[in-house]
Amino acid sequence: MKDLFKVSGGARLQGAVKVDGAKNSVLKLMAAALLAEGSTTLTNCPEILDVPLMQKVLEGLGCSVVIDGTTVTIDTPAVPSSDADFDAVRQFRASVCVLGPLTARCGKARVALPGGDAIGSRPLDMHQSGLEKLGATTHIEHGAVVTEAAELVGANIKLDFPSVGATENILTAAVLAKGTTVLDNAAREPEIVDLCSMLLEMGADISGAGTSTITINGVDKLSPTNHEVIGDRIVAGTWAYAAVMTQGDITVSGIAPRHLHLPLSKLRSAGADIETYENGFRVRMNERPKSVDYQTLPFPGFPTDLQPMAIGLSAIADGTAVITENVFESRFRFVDEMLRLGADAQVDGHHVVIRGQEKLSSTDVWSSDIRAGAGLVLSAFCADEQTTVHDVFHIDRGYPHFVENLQALGATIERGQEETNQ
Ligand code: UD1
Repeated sequence: MKDLFKVSGGARLQGAVKVDGAKNSVLKLMAAALLAEGSTTLTNCPEILDVPLMQKVLEGLGCSVVIDGTTVTIDTPAVPSSDADFDAVRQFRASVCVLGPLTARCGKARVALPGGDAIGSRPLDMHQSGLEKLGATTHIEHGAVVTEAAELVGANIKLDFPSVGATENILTAAVLAKGTTVLDNAAREPEIVDLCSMLLEMGADISGAGTSTITINGVDKLSPTNHEVIGDRIVAGTWAYAAVMTQGDITVSGIAPRHLHLPLSKLRSAGADIETYENGFRVRMNERPKSVDYQTLPFPGFPTDLQPMAIGLSAIADGTAVITENVFESRFRFVDEMLRLGADAQVDGHHVVIRGQEKLSSTDVWSSDIRAGAGLVLSAFCADEQTTVHDVFHIDRGYPHFVENLQALGATIERGQEETNQ
């Protein structure tokens, strides 16, 4: 039976909320534990569905994994299995991050590929060509990506686009390669910096994390470590948008505000009053927000994962906004659901033009991915009556305790179940 959320319009969200560790960090850190024999502990892990899914992936590779609340302990054997071609791997895209560690540890890997993704095609060409530069052969066979490498040797690699996933797989292979790798046009996301911090704690030799050029001197062996996952900037950003959209007042902790520099400055332009602290921020809004234009770009640009929130806000803002999606081609599927809520939006290629309205109109809407789902819930707060958001399993993959957090902030939102099994 699938879950749904019933969301009442008209909320003004107020109070304090703490964000947990980042989904887009913890999954990669769990995979990085494959690089060292022994027991690695990760703290501040989010309690979301993707973590037990990754647990299954690692267990399938021979690790033993214990999840105890927000702490995950991974025991990696001397020789993990190189074959990640089983159901758990196919269930979520992020499992491809075991490719780099397995190629480095086992000299070969077979990682099943998931099916199509609602936010657009997600090829692996840059992951493959990066590993090939390090001396591996790679090919796609029976729905899996297969690598083989007698030995990995450092190389100069320049990415065509600063892909987060390709940067991670190249990093986690290069740390155990012979010699020096220089990775140019690398992704600069805070989650990349977090992965590099953990690899450094494990004994890797890396410099330049957080810049476009990362230099990795390969080492013979890495050791297990204890590492605290960084806060989830996308969840924190979602709370910031929730405050502005509902003309509320939310204090968010557990996040470095510099990881949200651009989203917070966009919200200031929309009229919000924002104070930042060392480990959080407060967003207050006392009037209808003003429309602001956006274009999504790799970090430090505006994150594509907050694009649905930007569209939600623009739908009820004063004025017209143009939003340009530069990272994922099909992310505007979400706009169809916003039209159902009465938004005045027109898609033209990778742009959407939105004329803001005072209120949206409640109806049934369907989440197509994690962030689209959250964007729909925030928009439902700005609708006249009760909105039903379906397919909320997507939201559960990325937002720990979403309903409970919203209720604590004063929202009227209930989890329910579909009447028939859809
Ligand atoms: C990660 C995040 C996702 C976020 C995205 C961009 C995880 C689990 N997911 O996804 O939430 O939206 O970063 O910040 O961390 N591309 C290629 N060839 C490749 C690799 C990527 O063409 O080999 C393209 C993709 O199709 C996409 C763009 O590059 O258009 C960005 O993708 P990438 O940065 O790799 O995103 P992910 O790592 O998949």
